[in-house]
Amino acid sequence: MTTEGLVRPDGPAKLTGAARYAADVPAESALAAALVSATVPNGRLAELDAAEARDCPGVAAVLTRADLPTLAELPSPPLGYPALPLQAEEIHYEGEPIAIVLAETLEQAQYAASRVRATYTGVREPIAFGEAEDVVPHSGHVLGGTDEEKGDAGAGLAEAHVTVTATYTTADRHHSPIEPSATLAWWEGEQLVLHSSVQSVAVAQQTMAALFSLPPEHVRVVCPFTGGGFGAKGYVWPHLPLAAAAAKVSGRPVRLVMTRAQMFTLSGHQPATRQTVSLGATRDGRLTALRHDSVNASGRAVDYLENTTHSSTWLYASPAIETRMRVQRVDRPGPTPMRAPHEGPGMFALESAMDELAYELGIDPVELRLRNEPDVDPMTGLPFSSRRLVECLREGAERFGWAERSPEPRSMREGNDLVGWGVAAATMDTFRAPSSAKVRIGADGRIVVETGMQEIGTGLPAMVQAVVAETLGCDPGDVEVRHGDSGFPPHAGTMGSMSAMGLGSAVQAAAREVLAKLDGRQGQPLAGLLAESGLTELEAEGRWSPEEDALAAGRSARYSMHTYGAIFAEVRVDADFGVVRLSRAVTRYAAGRILNPLAAHSQLTGGFAWGYGQALLEHSDVDPVLGRFVSKNLAGYLLPANADLPDLDAAFVEDDDRFANPLGAKGIGELGAVGVAAAIANAVFHATGRRVRNLPIRLATVL
Ligand code: MOS
Repeated sequence: MTTEGLVRPDGPAKLTGAARYAADVPAESALAAALVSATVPNGRLAELDAAEARDCPGVAAVLTRADLPTLAELPSPPLGYPALPLQAEEIHYEGEPIAIVLAETLEQAQYAASRVRATYTGVREPIAFGEAEDVVPHSGHVLGGTDEEKGDAGAGLAEAHVTVTATYTTADRHHSPIEPSATLAWWEGEQLVLHSSVQSVAVAQQTMAALFSLPPEHVRVVCPFTGGGFGAKGYVWPHLPLAAAAAKVSGRPVRLVMTRAQMFTLSGHQPATRQTVSLGATRDGRLTALRHDSVNASGRAVDYLENTTHSSTWLYASPAIETRMRVQRVDRPGPTPMRAPHEGPGMFALESAMDELAYELGIDPVELRLRNEPDVDPMTGLPFSSRRLVECLREGAERFGWAERSPEPRSMREGNDLVGWGVAAATMDTFRAPSSAKVRIGADGRIVVETGMQEIGTGLPAMVQAVVAETLGCDPGDVEVRHGDSGFPPHAGTMGSMSAMGLGSAVQAAAREVLAKLDGRQGQPLAGLLAESGLTELEAEGRWSPEEDALAAGRSARYSMHTYGAIFAEVRVDADFGVVRLSRAVTRYAAGRILNPLAAHSQLTGGFAWGYGQALLEHSDVDPVLGRFVSKNLAGYLLPANADLPDLDAAFVEDDDRFANPLGAKGIGELGAVGVAAAIANAVFHATGRRVRNLPIRLATVL
């Protein structure tokens, strides 16, 4: 594909170190903070002995529960983790903060934190995933998700010529952004100022205002750059309220930076899932029933629902579809969305089951998917706003050379390598949320855009430049993008693959407004137009929101609105050792109009790397006795490196979704992480004849 497009204007600042991240912001007389964390997964704090820590050099204070203000209840649906730190004697998870040490330097704070002694009472054996009762998740969560049903799946399975039922599991995974979460907090009278590494200054502002019972305009959150988020920085986690509370109590600015280990307990994770899929089909490969049940692990204090089964309601035509989701409350920290949430784990199960069905039927797995392409949304009957899954499958198969595949497992050996080809579909829900931006033209023709948007590495400033340049007919280099301040026009957040839609449309509206005010046309020199109007500066604000929809879930109420893709993978499995190498992959995606091909292509390759990690490397195991994640570091938690990744041909097919927003664009980032694991597992089956239903794929399962 063409990878032409705009290079990111924020690139040089990031590469040279000029970009300032939350922990780098200078603050005179700031205290460094270190957290003391619970070493048990449940029970209650009995005694906390901070005497020795208070006497350590440089220590200004050791704050315990008694020293901190009582925070208000979080707004519902929760935008943050409901079990707030240091608000109760109860321990909700191993790693929960129980004290905060403030000192003149970070080293002094960390040393003193190591001298705090805690004892606990009522500690019982931790409950692990698989041991607890399933519960129905509460329905008020912002991400929603419910059981869905159409037709009679039991009857559909009974009358099917061929059925497949299998259980699949996915592992707990951690986001591991390069930049750990951090907050620098200070108070100016009743005003709270926060420099914090977040994916949404708007969410942080609203949540912190609620917690501290302040009007939102009394909270300013600044975050021009976020060093990776992937969902770990979408909600408000303990570092925000703790830094703010400590600053209030101490009367000095407080800087609180998470350690790498704390990133494994204090900013969420993708929870393990156990999913059972049943498919029934006629002999010619038409589905008669689709049933998808899912349970995910959640913390004891939160019912986080990994919305795994939702995509099974729109992907394939079937007269009967039944989905069911439950959670298990176990002893561990609260989960949170992680790229790609929901469809990421869910589509591993569905797309593996489709592959199993293809073998049972003796039908090519690409052909099986084509035969079950629906005309309208199978669950709701709504029309698709745009759907190009067939084009993705056909073009991907063509480029991959799928027609050369010999269908039998273990039939494509090359030397000592068992070669396997696998395919899977990808899809993501299209979340949309309101956004706004200001566009200002100066006398020199320079254009400044201001928005509360977070740049988390996905390339949004270049996208803004592209939209302004397209709308005004100007040079993208003339557009300066300022972002990441709650004082700028609000943006919902850089999460859920929704920013290009909302922000892009808001920027387009603002730029159009500028032209209208100047009575100008696209491509006319702006400085000249401004002078003619007798102005030295002109500003317009644009807003966009998915107006016809109930915003609660951000989904369209009139159209079945999603993105699609197809993944083709070639693996080579060492016949003696079972080592799986991904040698080649072709991916094709449909995600509306592509605003900046260069950045979009990067998102696809980055997303593919996430899928590779899910398939072959990532798992955060929980110690069954201690009830804690075992490897809280990047030595024990494996992530893919460039050398792991194959020759990848990633591209988009033509698409344009005029129902999604005025730009015709849809979300990209998370889509690229969906379906990869299933394609790889399906390729492993083709290579070896071993069906892997548990992620990550391990040598022991393949051999
Ligand atoms: Mo994404 S998991 O909404 O950062």
